[in-house]
Amino acid sequence: MASADGFGDPATLFNKPTARIDGMAKVTGAARYAADEPVSNPAYAYLVTSAIARGRVTAFRLDAAKAVPGVIDIMTHDNVGDQVATAAGPDSGKTTTSLENDQIWYAGQIIAIVVADTFEAAREAAHKVDVVHAAETPSATFGSAGLKTEVQKPKKGPNPKKGDAAKAFAAAPVKVDAKYSTPTQHHNAIELFTTTAAWDGDKLTIFEGSQYMVGSKANVAKALKLDPADVRVVSRFIGGAFGGKGPNPRTAWVALAAKRAGRPVKLVPTRDQGFTINTCRAETQQHVRLGATKDGKLVSFHHEGWEVSSRPSDYNVAGAETTSRMYACPNIETGVNVVHADRATPGFMRAPAETPYMFGLESAMDELSYALGMDPIELRRINDTQTDPTTGLPFSSRHLMDCFDQAAARFGWAARNPKPGTMRDGDWLIGYGCATACYPTNIGPAAARVSLGADGKAVVGLAAHEIGTGAYTAMAITASQALGLKIGDVTVLMGDSDLPPVVIAGGSNNAASTSHAVAKACEEVRSRIAAAAVKAADSPFKGADPTSLKLVAGKLTAGSTQTEDLKPAVGRLGARVEVYAENVPQGMPAGAMASVEKGQAAMSGGGGRKDVSAFAFGAHFVEVRVHSRTREIRLPRIVSAFAAGTIINPMAAHSQLMGGAIWGMSSALFESTEIDRAHARYTNNNFADYIVPVNADVPSVEIIIVPEKDERVNPLGIKGIGEIGIVGGNAAVANAVFHATGKRVRDLPIRAEKLL
Ligand code: MOS
Repeated sequence: MASADGFGDPATLFNKPTARIDGMAKVTGAARYAADEPVSNPAYAYLVTSAIARGRVTAFRLDAAKAVPGVIDIMTHDNVGDQVATAAGPDSGKTTTSLENDQIWYAGQIIAIVVADTFEAAREAAHKVDVVHAAETPSATFGSAGLKTEVQKPKKGPNPKKGDAAKAFAAAPVKVDAKYSTPTQHHNAIELFTTTAAWDGDKLTIFEGSQYMVGSKANVAKALKLDPADVRVVSRFIGGAFGGKGPNPRTAWVALAAKRAGRPVKLVPTRDQGFTINTCRAETQQHVRLGATKDGKLVSFHHEGWEVSSRPSDYNVAGAETTSRMYACPNIETGVNVVHADRATPGFMRAPAETPYMFGLESAMDELSYALGMDPIELRRINDTQTDPTTGLPFSSRHLMDCFDQAAARFGWAARNPKPGTMRDGDWLIGYGCATACYPTNIGPAAARVSLGADGKAVVGLAAHEIGTGAYTAMAITASQALGLKIGDVTVLMGDSDLPPVVIAGGSNNAASTSHAVAKACEEVRSRIAAAAVKAADSPFKGADPTSLKLVAGKLTAGSTQTEDLKPAVGRLGARVEVYAENVPQGMPAGAMASVEKGQAAMSGGGGRKDVSAFAFGAHFVEVRVHSRTREIRLPRIVSAFAAGTIINPMAAHSQLMGGAIWGMSSALFESTEIDRAHARYTNNNFADYIVPVNADVPSVEIIIVPEKDERVNPLGIKGIGEIGIVGGNAAVANAVFHATGKRVRDLPIRAEKLL
């Protein structure tokens, strides 16, 4: 029976392990990524980026570049500076591209775009662009001269603060006072940042991997002063996004290049350019102070962060907004500071706030467990709470300790000797570590069009996109279950801004946002078919209660043996029943859908509700082995458990969470973008030197999904799993390394040399 709220019943809609419906297209190469989209007679763009990190361009000498055969155009601020009102994506500042003027904000900034008949000609000419600079000494990162540090207010409101944390800390019998730091990281999706722009008269089509179809469309329309109705963004498949493929300022410049060339233009930047033409995860420094009673109850919580940003932008992620909600504590103080350097503006990268800041908190909690002589799981249990300590609101649901208990049992935590350096296997020191994972639950407005034909085939359309997580499959599951069809009878159309608008895929909101819209449209399809049936003389259901009629196994049924085929049941309404439905989550303003269409990333925590605090929770357990002489670090196994509400597709969820756990260990041991302090340039901007784990680095990852039914967070109880998998993984590894060696590494990544 469909539930009264018009979304159907999550118990029957979801939780069916389903292989990806687009899997065959992906493995056979039929899936089209943005740069694969065919356009007729394209020209090719190549970027010229700044060699200096601070100063001005005083002249471009273009004679040699223009002499390269096949060169069509060289765009610089001198000839196009006033033609694009560069509009950046949410929070990404204005510095990721600059053809507007002669200002250099950071090394690797786009300063010219060469367009030619071939990629090779464009590249050759780009290398022949001679740039004359007036260079100044840049400030690269923490510790550099010339930085400007500002105390910030987090965007969501004032820094969480309660009681008197300083006084309580001074009086606490057991304390941790420690500083942690995390490095710059880059998304490094396998798919490069590509843009193809094609004009048909005044109509512009953009092919670009995008996490926000309608936002990219609005962004380009605004930058080029076009009617949004004349812009279409297509992104059928995305080869990794991770927060790096939102609306961005490059797109409009490529569209301008195509307009000037009078033919489509394709831009495929290089891997190393990808490090500077887009956003990154900012490096942080953090100061954590925890005070506790002798029996382990937190009495004082203090978490302050410093984040590197660009000169003009105050982008920050303010992760203590999350960390301060993790454990019961009467006295809380948090803060965030932005450190302005000559760097690109950072941006979202998978669990932007939680990945760095939970490293600080969960390392400090582990340090506190040793200070107390207490098991780290027991310390979390003692401070577990069903009430958000910063707001006093109840958590919509919280099964953190179930995650710890189930993962600990599976991992074999009971065999751990708590004393560091005591567990060995020959020359290898063994360490066990654990940490909390969490991610706030967000949801946003979404629309969907669903049609069901008398032939029993359904089509679902919405301007969401396949970000790699199985989104096509999730939508097909939702519709096939709601409409009583085989999954193969559902066609899902996504990745096109002409489809019904959907909020940005950010903050792990998309599964919740889109499935509510699709479920709502399907329920309306059912309702219209039922309403027609109960009025029709030729229907077996004439006079029945329409709410009692369901779509099951390709038929309309009243739950008895009596059924009606879809052919007559749909046919009495026409060849197809088509419904367009919008879902604005409860608690969000009615105008929220309009802001989505305008490219403003409307989404909200707690399902938009003001009366609950909503998070998914989890626990990571890792074993590390550190060689007793060389200090080589190996990581043989991870066991992670998550409670994240309704799971749409357990098979895809398992993969997603496993990928997250691997990224967590990568954040601990591998990934770090290194910067040359003198020149403020990245030195490891390639896949040989920017290290990511390969299969041989990750022998065993076990994922436990703890069943959780949350009736408060949103009608279908979906919390989202896009980001939680990575959170806390870095701390679990650091905690295991301490257990193995007795050496606390507070600065990521953990490398052998830090253990010598
Ligand atoms: Mo996610 S970093 O909010 O795409």
